[in-house]
Amino acid sequence: MSVDQMFESLKEKLKDIVPEVELRYKAELAVQINELKEKRNAVILGHNYMDPVLFNAVADIKGDSLELSRKAAQTDKDVILFCGVKFMAETAKILNPGKTVLIPSLAGCSLAESITAADVRLLKKKFPGVPVVTYINTYADVKAESDICCTSGNAVAVVESLHTDTVIFLPDQYLAGNVARETGKHIIFPVADIADEKADSLLDVQMIGWRGRCEVHEKYTVQDIANIRQQYPDVMILAHPECSPEVTAAADFAGSTSAMIKFVQQTDGPRYLLLTECSMADNVAAENPGKNMLRMCSVRCPHMNQITLENTLDSLRLNQFEITLPEELRVRAFQAVERMLHIG
Ligand code: 13P
Ligand code: SF4
Repeated sequence: MSVDQMFESLKEKLKDIVPEVELRYKAELAVQINELKEKRNAVILGHNYMDPVLFNAVADIKGDSLELSRKAAQTDKDVILFCGVKFMAETAKILNPGKTVLIPSLAGCSLAESITAADVRLLKKKFPGVPVVTYINTYADVKAESDICCTSGNAVAVVESLHTDTVIFLPDQYLAGNVARETGKHIIFPVADIADEKADSLLDVQMIGWRGRCEVHEKYTVQDIANIRQQYPDVMILAHPECSPEVTAAADFAGSTSAMIKFVQQTDGPRYLLLTECSMADNVAAENPGKNMLRMCSVRCPHMNQITLENTLDSLRLNQFEITLPEELRVRAFQAVERMLHIG
């Protein structure tokens, strides 16, 4: 595709979302990326939070963490370029040890950084025999200490699949709270010093959580919802399960990024507000031109926003940044991810 053709097709889709001058400049980069992608026999995975041009012009496979993990497991390309954050690219490597997995910037995540493998080992010592469910938003060494992973799209199904009285659910305090509410479980959060023998005993506890939080979703409050409903009484509010249980309860719908996208596609509300990374609303608006998407754009993920067309092109050109994992650790993490993929 020529730059002019790319520009025209982007203009058709994104004219109300991205200024024309920006589209012209980005069309050139998108064409270069696609040419190099072809040459290197690469596939580009794009998380739903990606910049609209990157999402629409260069990503071959788009989706939430669960969909991208599934698709990463099925690709026959030599190179997987992951436009998302590092824990996601690591998951692709866990599932594809023989392939080159690249990420344009080693972007973090406040949830992944909230817990270490040593923390998980201490919890397992304190609660022996209790299975460990780990959110996909963790690094490979934490996954390697876990029995099974989950995403926001399948967390309830994963917990229920274990058929145990008690589970350790790490590290998202709010996702755990949302799962506890849906499954009717009682949750505790062990004190900071988890090695302390006198700390919380199990008693009637059914879920053991950790106080990690998403620095984006924790910012939304019940007051935000009340304010927006006062201004727009007919608004449909959708919240990601990384928001607090109070916020998801006050919203009209809670689900993963892709579940929110499907909800907008399949309903006919007068207007929608997504309580999640703000740029996703641009991608939803581009797909659903007739729908009115409200924005609360003070809330951006500083990590997802590190991924640009410029560093995506550099990633393919310079083979940076390549994800590598020690094989022994990868194999242990693989067991937890694969077990999740069998569940749904
Ligand atoms: P999803 O799995 O819903 O795409 O969420 C990933 C994430 O990081 C949300 O902040
Ligand atoms: Fe992590 Fe939150 Fe950013 Fe998602 S939005 S990558 S959970 S910091």
